[in-house]
Amino acid sequence: MKLFHTVQGIRDAVSASRRDGKRIGFVPTMGNLHEGHLQLVRLARETCDVVVVSIFVNPLQFGLNEDWETYPRTLQSDAEKLESVGCDYLFHPTEGEIYPNGMADQTRVVVPTMTDILCGASRPGHFEGVTTVVSKLFHIVQPDEAVFGIKDYQQLAVIRRMTEDLCIPVEVIAAPIARDHDGLALSSRNSFISEDERPKADVLYRTLCWVKEQITAGERDFMRLQDEANQRIEAEGFRPDYLEICHAKTLEPAACDDTEIVVLGAMYARNARLIDNVTVSL
Ligand code: PAF
Repeated sequence: MKLFHTVQGIRDAVSASRRDGKRIGFVPTMGNLHEGHLQLVRLARETCDVVVVSIFVNPLQFGLNEDWETYPRTLQSDAEKLESVGCDYLFHPTEGEIYPNGMADQTRVVVPTMTDILCGASRPGHFEGVTTVVSKLFHIVQPDEAVFGIKDYQQLAVIRRMTEDLCIPVEVIAAPIARDHDGLALSSRNSFISEDERPKADVLYRTLCWVKEQITAGERDFMRLQDEANQRIEAEGFRPDYLEICHAKTLEPAACDDTEIVVLGAMYARNARLIDNVTVSL
């Protein structure tokens, strides 16, 4: 595996591979890699000749009171993990390399409306930071395909929308959610869950599965389901952020006759905000 810190370096390497007729797969990450990330890389490996992974803790997508400073930076162990799953090129740029003109004056990419709800409502500006950096990374790496986890369902929907709207020639691939033994979705932020909270942290997933069962059984009073779901999360000592039943593509509140639904939830542990989702096909 080759490590690159500069835009020019990764560009030259990828261009040479493309000239050799190779298909390029890309997995953008913020590092502190876990099994979920490695599954994204394995998925890219299945269809691509060259797999590029980026590690960049993007300051533009963190709010002022969020955890950018404490976000774990674990380059050495990340590199070892990536090597073990067959990553070819690791791109680990500095902030100056990605934002040479500073962040304040950086040209932004904005996907309207669907970024103002759910996670976007609790984290203003977050998705603007994500779409801006992902579009920059797409322009830098110029992959044929890019793999994103379904765990960040809204992020995936927003990136798909951006790619479609801006005619970016990258195929966006969705990878299934990797879960711990009890169902907790794997996340770099799980390391912030306190020891006493961890045994109950699967409540978000349990609750989403309960909502899915109810909808599958024919329940259509979505407000009642959402209220009860929030109560279930509170009863385990966590603070619900949102739990919403939405149309799987538009993320608008689901209508009673929708057949493709996603139930999305977010809750606060003492030192971490956790998100998860389940899809329902009727
Ligand atoms: O999902 C993430 O890790 C980040 O939001 C991403 C897509 C790498 C952009 O910084």
